[in-house]
Amino acid sequence: MPADGADPNVGDGPAASGGPLARVAAEVGVAKPDPILVVDGVTRRFGGLTAVDVDHLEIQRGAITALIGPNGAGKTTLFNLLTGFDAPDHGRWKFDGTDVAGVPAYKVARRGMVRTFQLTKSLAKLSVLENMKLGATDQRGERFLPALLPFLWKSEERAIEDRADELLTRFKLHDKRGDFAGSLSGGQRKLLEMARALMAEPAMVMLDEPMAGVNPALTQSLLQHVKSLRDNEGRTVVFVEHDMDVVYDISDWVVVMAAGRIIAEGPPRAIGANQEVIDAYLGTHHDAPLSVEEEDEVLSDIESELWAERTPGGAEQP
Ligand SMILES: Nc1ncnc2c1ncn2[C@@H]1O[C@H](COP(=O)(O)OP(=O)(O)OP(=O)(O)O)[C@@H](O)[C@H]1O
Ligand SMILES: [Mg+2]
Repeated sequence: MPADGADPNVGDGPAASGGPLARVAAEVGVAKPDPILVVDGVTRRFGGLTAVDVDHLEIQRGAITALIGPNGAGKTTLFNLLTGFDAPDHGRWKFDGTDVAGVPAYKVARRGMVRTFQLTKSLAKLSVLENMKLGATDQRGERFLPALLPFLWKSEERAIEDRADELLTRFKLHDKRGDFAGSLSGGQRKLLEMARALMAEPAMVMLDEPMAGVNPALTQSLLQHVKSLRDNEGRTVVFVEHDMDVVYDISDWVVVMAAGRIIAEGPPRAIGANQEVIDAYLGTHHDAPLSVEEEDEVLSDIESELWAERTPGGAEQP
C-alpha cells in the first residue's frame, strides 16, 4: 500500500466512487441494484467434466465486471453459453428482463448482448470494412418488405458504412479499411473485434481476454476504449482477464470462477484480500496453451449463418 494509505486495489469506476455497487455485499450470488443479466442454475458438462456450474449470478447494468479464474475455470464456456454459442445442460438466464436461454447467437446479439473471442475471429479474407459490416445486426434490407424497396435498403447500407467508418476512426484502423483483416497485427485484430462488436450498438459487451497478446502500448489504448464504453456510452462490460493490474485498474466488480463454480465476487479490493481467491487463482500459472478447435468450429457455423442471412440472394461466402 502506498504511504498515503490509498488502497491500490481500487478501481476508478462507480463502485469506487460510491456508485450503485458500493453497498452490495461481497457474497457469491448477491443481488445487484439494477442487473442487466441474471443467470440461474446454469450447468454445462463435457463428458465427465462439469465445465460450468453457476447457481446464481447478476451483472450490474452500466458497470465493468471482470470475470477471473485459472485456466480451465469455465470462463469462456460461460460466455459461450450466455451468448448462444453453446447450449447448457440446465439453466436459464434473462438479459434485460427477457429470457434468452436457447436463443441463437445472432439473435442474442440483436437483443444487445455481444461478445468477442479469446482468439480473434476476424475473417482474414474479408476486408476490415466488410468485417465491420458483418457486425451490424439489424439491416433493414434483410427483412422482406423493405427488401422490395431498395431506396430504404440503400440508406440503411450507407448508415452502416458511416457507423463502421466512425468506429474504425475511433479505433485508429481507418487507414486499413480496405485491407484484408488477415494482414492486421494481433493487436489490431483485437481492436477490430472490439470495433465490430460495437456495430451492433450492444447494451452489453462481453470481452474474452481483450488484452491477451497485445503489446503494452496498445493495451493502454484498449483499456481506455473499455472504460469509455462504460463512461461515455453507458454500456455494460463483462471482460475476462488474467492480468490483475488490469482488473484492479478498470473493474467495478470482480467475479471469480474456479472449476466451473463462482467462488467469490465483490469489489476489486475485497477480492484481492480473499484467501480463497488467492489460493484458487493468484498463486497459479496462467499461460498454458489453449485448445480452440471446437470454438473455431462453432464460430464457422455462426459465420456461415450470418453470411447466409446477409446475402439472401445466395452469394458464395469467400
Ligand atoms: N468443447 C469442449 N469439449 C470438451 N471440453 C471442453 C470444451 N470446451 C471447454 N472444455 C473444458 O471445459 C473446461 C473449461 O474451459 P474454458 O475454456 O471455459 O476455461 P477458461 O476459464 O476460459 O480457461 P482459460 O483461462 O484457459 O481461457 C476446461 O477443462 C476445458 O478443457
Ligand atoms: Mg478462456
